[in-house]
Amino acid sequence: MPSYPYVLLSAAVSLDGYLDDTGPDRLLLSSPADFDRVDEVRASVDAILIGAGTIRADNPRLLVNSAERRAARKADGKPEYPLKVTVSASGELDPTANFWHTGGEKIVYTTERGAERLRRVPVAADVVALGSDLDWRGLLRHLREARGVERLMVEGGGTIHTQLLQQGLADEVQLVLAPLFVGDPKAPRLFGPGEYQGGRLRLLETRRIEDVVLMRYEPTAPGAGVLPSAADRRWLALACELAAECPPSGTAFSVGAVVVAADGTELARGHSREGGDPVVHAEEAALAKIAPGDPRVTSATVYTSLEPCTRRASRPVPCARLILAAGVRRVVTAWREPDTFVAGADGSGLLAGEGVDVVVLPEYEARAKAPNSHLLP
Ligand SMILES: NC(=O)c1ccc[n+]([C@@H]2O[C@H](COP(=O)([O-])OP(=O)(O)OC[C@H]3O[C@@H](n4cnc5c(N)ncnc54)[C@H](OP(=O)(O)O)[C@@H]3O)[C@@H](O)[C@H]2O)c1
Repeated sequence: MPSYPYVLLSAAVSLDGYLDDTGPDRLLLSSPADFDRVDEVRASVDAILIGAGTIRADNPRLLVNSAERRAARKADGKPEYPLKVTVSASGELDPTANFWHTGGEKIVYTTERGAERLRRVPVAADVVALGSDLDWRGLLRHLREARGVERLMVEGGGTIHTQLLQQGLADEVQLVLAPLFVGDPKAPRLFGPGEYQGGRLRLLETRRIEDVVLMRYEPTAPGAGVLPSAADRRWLALACELAAECPPSGTAFSVGAVVVAADGTELARGHSREGGDPVVHAEEAALAKIAPGDPRVTSATVYTSLEPCTRRASRPVPCARLILAAGVRRVVTAWREPDTFVAGADGSGLLAGEGVDVVVLPEYEARAKAPNSHLLP
């Protein structure tokens, strides 16, 4: 399963939800102190991405402006400036734009058609063609695997933010609300129409910065099918944290589980041996807390640090069967069961064989194993 960078969407909007006005100059929405905060966030990431529309509209430099922050990056063994990234399907990019002539390395993700145009009118950047259409997962995978990007800041515009949020690829939204109005329906909006997650995002922080307010949100909705969303990773991380809360045992694994509705609402959580029950399993404990017949379960996702069991001595029904009986159709796990107690257990295979979408995210395996290290060779 591919691993992506942490994706942070950053934007400032007017009180009526616009990113800019329609005038020739960029509308300054943030306050000076907030521009400095943005500079700090830029200094903390490996790459910054903007859409070709923002290059055309604003002609930004997209730099870390503080010399101290650049020096600190170098002292940490990082490049002085984060990698600058843009996306363009058309490849119609102005080679004289500031983006190409300031800062450090640059990369353009484009289509075959765009790459053809960029061969004729080149820009000072690496050009990566991702096929006939641009696939965001392919782009994120390339940034992580080919360029080592672990944290990506996306600074707009609205077209880009909308796609990343709707495709469940944003880990965090940093939104600044500026106390002014645009009032022009032709001005660009932060988020366009389309299908977003159904429920509420989680509020992480609010911060007053002069006359603007920073709000940080996390999307919460599970992914669809076998495609992981950014929120899937966080829920699985929570399951791994719950595993660490289990009463210790020399004869059973410590596992954590969370059941999450399709709109991102947590339905229940559990961990091994919770509540004084010496043999209860994490998925069993979590599912038992959901009212029978709760209609949200059939579209829910079960996150479990270790794949659901297929055979157990302690109780008649293993967790994979409990999950099927509950009607759950999607399971995300970090760790395939080793042969420690049961040879050849294959909970993922059993569930997939029954049509359940099973997603294994091995980047969480070490966290899932940590509370079980005494049981492993
Ligand atoms: N207030 C803020 O925080 C903030 C931040 C950034 C931008 N802005 C404002 O936002 C406005 C620009 O926003 P925008 O929505 O017009 O432009 P944008 O999101 O910056 O860029 C859109 C362009 O990116 C490329 N693109 C987008 N999705 C793609 C995909 N899936 N595959 C391939 N290419 C893709 C296309 O380029 P091609 O056309 O070349 O194919 C598309 O035209 C400006 O007014 C700017 O001032 C405000």
